[in-house]
Amino acid sequence: MSDQQRTVFTIFGSTGDLTYRKLLPAFYNLSHRNRLAEDFVLLCVGRKNYTTEQYLEIALPWLKKGVRFNFTQEAYDAFKKHVRYVVMDMSDPGQYVILKKDYETIQASLHLYYLAVAPEYFEKVARSLRDAGILDDATGHRVIVEKPFGKDLQSAREINRTMTEIFGEANVYRIDHYLGKEMIQNIMTLRFANGMFESVWDKDHIDFVQISATETVGVENRGPYYDQAGALQDMVQNHLFQILSLIAMEAPKSLDAKDIREKQIQVLRNIEGLSKEEITQSLVLGQYVASRDHKWIAYTDEEKVAKDSLTETFAALHVTLKDPNWTGVPFYIRSGKRLRQRATYVVIGFKRQHNDLFAAQNPSQDLLLIKIQPEEGIYFRFNAKKPGYGSEISRVSMDFCQSCNFDNRINTPEAYERLLDEAMSGDDTLFTSWQQVETTWQFAQVISDARNEGLIKLHPYPAGTDGPQAAHDLLMKDHRRWIDYELSEYSETLQHYPND
Ligand code: BG6
Repeated sequence: MSDQQRTVFTIFGSTGDLTYRKLLPAFYNLSHRNRLAEDFVLLCVGRKNYTTEQYLEIALPWLKKGVRFNFTQEAYDAFKKHVRYVVMDMSDPGQYVILKKDYETIQASLHLYYLAVAPEYFEKVARSLRDAGILDDATGHRVIVEKPFGKDLQSAREINRTMTEIFGEANVYRIDHYLGKEMIQNIMTLRFANGMFESVWDKDHIDFVQISATETVGVENRGPYYDQAGALQDMVQNHLFQILSLIAMEAPKSLDAKDIREKQIQVLRNIEGLSKEEITQSLVLGQYVASRDHKWIAYTDEEKVAKDSLTETFAALHVTLKDPNWTGVPFYIRSGKRLRQRATYVVIGFKRQHNDLFAAQNPSQDLLLIKIQPEEGIYFRFNAKKPGYGSEISRVSMDFCQSCNFDNRINTPEAYERLLDEAMSGDDTLFTSWQQVETTWQFAQVISDARNEGLIKLHPYPAGTDGPQAAHDLLMKDHRRWIDYELSEYSETLQHYPND
């Protein structure tokens, strides 16, 4: 790293899923790319009584699976040199003297603390660091937190107050790893670096927007967390609303974080359709049941999930924006676990032309597809003349596949890798502001209140399918259909669905 200060990066919750799956591989990648200074220290705090060697041994299979470069012994040895495991109960303020001693021997000039723990520990860890005098010195202290930033609007506000009091707003980095994804960053480039797109990005030209993040995985071993959160909090409120705000925001004054966030917040504040009165019409929630072939078990049979759980594993929404630029344009959003396909993408449907020169030939609607994963790219479907005599038309496409090229894959940092790197360099452009978080909690709160009043039904869907029929009916009401990742339209009635 170009940064000359000695950095120590402390992970609280270092024996958890997030650390093994995402954070350690990201640090391996950073080490591989020479982004970590020789004297950089990765301090992994955990209650389990491991030595550093034992900890690394446990982490090894995760690293082998998660790193994006070929795993080599040489690169692993270089990475290992940075890691120290510290046995400590982070929920006991008395034990922070252990950390303090470690820090005194390390003598870093920049500290980062990653709270890879449940939100109820955020304030405790922050206060314990402060009370142990660890934050007293003049070195930099930044804290990185992951969603959920609380369990409801009120707790989120309280946590935020404490964190900003202790660290200062400028030092609180709220991570949304979707912002680290290459194609999500590309949305702004696509929109604002191309006159062709910028000039048609409004209600006069756009007919609808669909944002989908469908997953094939179930809740895996994250039952206790997921059963509290559900699909809305886990995916929609943060990742998908981030995408929505990037798709719909006005051009920011500059590429500075402050200017971009201001425009994103404006979009979030303009969301309509999620009031208590509207929600029964605009929101569909679902939960997966066992697949017909018994390959997948029901959500309520998953480990550490309540047998009578009413948590949604699928959510589909129809929102609009109170913005003259977007009047009448529907934004359809959906996400779910144990669906047929893993795909995150945005589809922009363009309005048909007013002239009817080709009406008899029923031209297809022009579609722009932004592929976020598994492939990264941009795909445009339009109409062209069929070669030969006559004026028959056919659907054709132009395809830019960013990730098809192997070199691109090697050059593109994985989301966590990029975000950790940026946090260490003090660049918070790709992190979320409190106002963004607070605005989305307000919607979550309305939905949760409506659910508690029994206003929202939970629709079952068999694991491995495309979600509940009700999600398709949500679009059918508007004479539209969900568009899948291959750009074909879902059929009207999904025959393989139960009539829920
Ligand atoms: C996380 C959610 O934030 O994002 C997970 O907690 C979800 O439930 C994951 O699986 C999806 O991330 P990605 O990068 O695989 O799309």
